[in-house]
Amino acid sequence: MTMPDLCLGIESSCDDTAAAVVASDRRILSSVIYDQALLHAAYGGVVPEIAARAHAERVDLCVAEALRQAGVGLAGLDLIAVTAGPGLIGGVLAGVMCAKGLSAATGVPLLGVNHLAGHALTPRLTDGIDYPYLLLLVSGGHCQFLAVRGPQDFRRLGGTIDDAPGEAFDKTARLLGLGYPGGPEVERAAAGGDPARFAFPRPLLDRPGCDLSFSGLKTAVRRAVDKLVAAQGGVTRQDRADLCAGFQAATADVLAEKTRRALAAFGTAAPVLAVAGGVAANRTIAGALRAVAAAAGARFVTPPLALCTDNAAMIAWAGIEQAAAGETSDMGLAARPRWPLDAGAAPQLGSGRKGAKA
Ligand code: KG4
Ligand code: ZN
Repeated sequence: MTMPDLCLGIESSCDDTAAAVVASDRRILSSVIYDQALLHAAYGGVVPEIAARAHAERVDLCVAEALRQAGVGLAGLDLIAVTAGPGLIGGVLAGVMCAKGLSAATGVPLLGVNHLAGHALTPRLTDGIDYPYLLLLVSGGHCQFLAVRGPQDFRRLGGTIDDAPGEAFDKTARLLGLGYPGGPEVERAAAGGDPARFAFPRPLLDRPGCDLSFSGLKTAVRRAVDKLVAAQGGVTRQDRADLCAGFQAATADVLAEKTRRALAAFGTAAPVLAVAGGVAANRTIAGALRAVAAAAGARFVTPPLALCTDNAAMIAWAGIEQAAAGETSDMGLAARPRWPLDAGAAPQLGSGRKGAKA
């Protein structure tokens, strides 16, 4: 296929129902997100059954709104790209069924896209950077280093062996009685805290390579809270600030050191480090990563937050790039709860609250 001019993207793999229309010249004509935060807030995390039902109820409305905002009819589309995995299976199925129905009714070609490829190719949509580049994806559901070498050419240099960092932020927030999502709440509390008061571990720094681990850090915070409760009957406002600051500093240290190693392993003459995912919004972490890039002589790229967190514009863009490279799907397209981007990489442990991590 030559490069499709107008692509409808559909995303429903986690807790956002999203649809977008993107043009091959990188214009985003619309990007609509129906988020489900209110539906899941009471549970402190995403409940797969609730998510699946909400996707099924709203995905067609979301598509209609994206087409309306873009001023495009179904007949004007050249491609329908849909997240076919990895993620929570009920949600992925809702999106894939919607895309198949639209493709069957209109004859517009269909393409199943890997959700992680959507994140990984976003810096090309937003900043027009060339291949290859190093991507660090850090969110509530993902944590991995990818050498991005082409629209379907990804090499994983390392990733989390348990929790994603956003998940650790969310769990820490819940433990300390802060709101959900926890990342921004922990960052706010940490601003008034002493990062050195609690000596939290820096997991896996003693081992070579770029793999990461965050579940031990989360447990260390729980132990520190238990100790405070046993000693003084509770946790003061200052304790909470110090705990948040210590946790955030440990997370930033680990991400920075592993990023330094990943850049060394990536080893290109004029490297580009792109960081995507909700955790990239954290100023302490973003600052630490920017410093690592500068020290390695790498250009530092962070797409705008609205395009780094889950959205459908990234799926439409990945569809455009992959269709131009010859990828196609048909009505046999299946929803895949697990779908590693780099089939050659060793499988990682862990499938957390927000679905599979690799
Ligand atoms: O990329 P995203 O919207 O969704 C996926 O997980 O795919 O990322 C959401 C995650 C949540 O876990 C949230 O707590 C975390 O990103 N997050 C942050 C901050 N803002 C959002 N973590 C740390 N600091 C922040 N300021
Ligand atoms: Zn995602």
